[in-house]
Amino acid sequence: MLIVGNWKMYGLAGGVGEARALASALDTAPTAARIGLCPPALLIARLVAAVAGSKLSIGGQDCHALSEGAYTGDLSAEMLGDAGATLVILGHSERRAGHGETDQIVAGKVNGALRAGLMPIVCVGETLEQRQAGGAEAVVTAQVVGSLPDSVAEADFAIAYEPVWAIGSGLTPTPAEIEAMHAAIRETLASRFSGAGRKIPILYGGSVKPANAAELLHLNEVGGALVGGASLKAKDFEAIIRAA
Ligand code: 13P
Repeated sequence: MLIVGNWKMYGLAGGVGEARALASALDTAPTAARIGLCPPALLIARLVAAVAGSKLSIGGQDCHALSEGAYTGDLSAEMLGDAGATLVILGHSERRAGHGETDQIVAGKVNGALRAGLMPIVCVGETLEQRQAGGAEAVVTAQVVGSLPDSVAEADFAIAYEPVWAIGSGLTPTPAEIEAMHAAIRETLASRFSGAGRKIPILYGGSVKPANAAELLHLNEVGGALVGGASLKAKDFEAIIRAA
């Protein structure tokens, strides 16, 4: 089980205290799940220092495909790693929609993350229009295929299925819809990576809260969660982790 918090563009210095509170809660009541927290990049080094020695891994929310260059405002995977990050979220729908990231661009970033030794968490998900048109599984499995470069075959990585319409909306797909989508993703991974494809964690993301976490995390082929809003407060995120 892998449970990762995505703080998005939320969090100032006060976020360090939340991360510390979460780390000490996990120390006193350990969990078997792997836990990650992906704050805004400027907080990575501070969170790494604040939670050193705990079970919490710290990650980025995006990276450039290249290790360095004349790309004003961008950060490379090597820079995230240098700050102490060990994982990175890539291809989030907010970046696909707001920054024009295509599957090909995401695949380049996955290569960059692997080169720098970071674990990529590759996000996929359909819009409401795509689901209503009956094309959700085709859209999502095509994103899985297109966003994964061949270099990922032997690597430690995860997929996060996040329906765009479930993000920040309080809505979630039905348990049957989640299981059907995760099964379709699993078959796509297994046909590309054979045995290894059966072990890649497939996280669910989109309005995961303390109240629904136990149900969502125990569905077939759900190997964890990518949590937005409810990861900002240590108490809420801890409750989700406890539900695993
Ligand atoms: P919410 O949990 O706030 O719906 O966000 C989900 C998400 O986008 C995580 O990456």
